[in-house]
Amino acid sequence: LKTSSGRINKPAVLVARAIFPEVLQTLQQHFEVTSNQADVLWNPEQLAFAAKGVAGILTTGSERIDAALLAACPDLKICANMAVGYNNFDVAAMTTARVVATNTPDVLTETTADFGFALILAAARRMTEGEHFLRAGLWNRWRYDMLAGAEVHGTTLGILGMGRIGQAIAKRGAHGFGMRVIYHNRSRLDAVTEGVCAASFVSKQDLLQQADHLILVLPYSTESHHAIGVAELAQMKPTATLVNIARGGIVDDVALAAALKAGALAAAGLDVFEGEPRVHPDLLTLPNVVLTPHIASATLRTRRAMAQLAAANLIGFLLHGKALTPLNA
Ligand code: DGY
Repeated sequence: LKTSSGRINKPAVLVARAIFPEVLQTLQQHFEVTSNQADVLWNPEQLAFAAKGVAGILTTGSERIDAALLAACPDLKICANMAVGYNNFDVAAMTTARVVATNTPDVLTETTADFGFALILAAARRMTEGEHFLRAGLWNRWRYDMLAGAEVHGTTLGILGMGRIGQAIAKRGAHGFGMRVIYHNRSRLDAVTEGVCAASFVSKQDLLQQADHLILVLPYSTESHHAIGVAELAQMKPTATLVNIARGGIVDDVALAAALKAGALAAAGLDVFEGEPRVHPDLLTLPNVVLTPHIASATLRTRRAMAQLAAANLIGFLLHGKALTPLNA
C-alpha cells in the first residue's frame, strides 16, 4: 500500500447507505471512503458505478451484490452487510469472484427477539386495533367482550427457523410466558440447546396445526419462498396468530390477507413484506394485522453495534486479512 514516494495509499471503500456518523469517521481513518450519506436509493447500475474501483462495500441489506455487480467491480474484495440476513448477496457468485461476504450475527439477536415477542403480543391482544378504536373516539364504555383477543401465556408457541433469534424467542416464551414451545428447523438442535430453550422439535405439519402463535425466523431463500402459503395457512388454527420478522416472501401475502379476511386465521404481526417497502393493499385495510416497517432490530444501541461490526469486518479483512464474521471464507 506504500507508493514509491513513501505515501500510504488507503484502500477505497464505499458505504452504500447512510450510517452512524461516528462509524463513518472510523472508516475514514482507515480508508478512502465514498459514502452515500444522503441516503439516495441507488439502482443496480448506480451502485455499480459508485463501487467502481473500491475494495470494500458496506451494504445494508437492501443492495444486491450479484454476478453483474461483481463483473463491474473487479477490484472488490469484501462486502460487509449491516444485517444478519444476507439474501441480498449471491454468496456463490461472490465466492467464485473471491469476494468475502460478511453479516452481523449475534449483536441483534436479543433486540430482534424482543420485537418478535412484541408483535405476538400486539397481534394476539389486539393492541393497535385498540389504539385506533380509542383515537377514533369510539370508546364510550367498558364491555365484557370489547377487543377481547387471544391468550398468550400458557399457550403453544411455534417457531419456524431455530437459529439464534428463534432460540432467544423460545426462551422468552418458555421462561417468561410459561408457554409450551415447539419448533421446526432444517436440522434439529442438540439436546442441551433444546433443554436450554425448553423447546421440542416437531414436523412442519405439527407445528402449523398445534401452534397458537407461530413466529417465522428462518432465512429467505428459494427453498423458503412462500413457506407459508394457502396450504400451510389452511392447516393453522383459526384462532392462531402468525408473526413474520424474517423476510418478506417467506409468507404469501395475498394468501395471508385472504385467510385473515375469511377468519381462517385470527391475527398477524408483520415486520417484513414481499416487495417492501410496498405493502399489499389488502393487508393495509385489515384490522387484525399489526404492520411495522422492518424495524425488528431498530434500537439505536443495536443498530450502532451492527454498523460497528460491519465496519470492523471491512477493517479486519482489508487491513489485517481476517474478517470477523465471514459467510464464505
Ligand atoms: C437483518 O439484520 O437481517 C435485519 O432484517 C435488518 O435490519
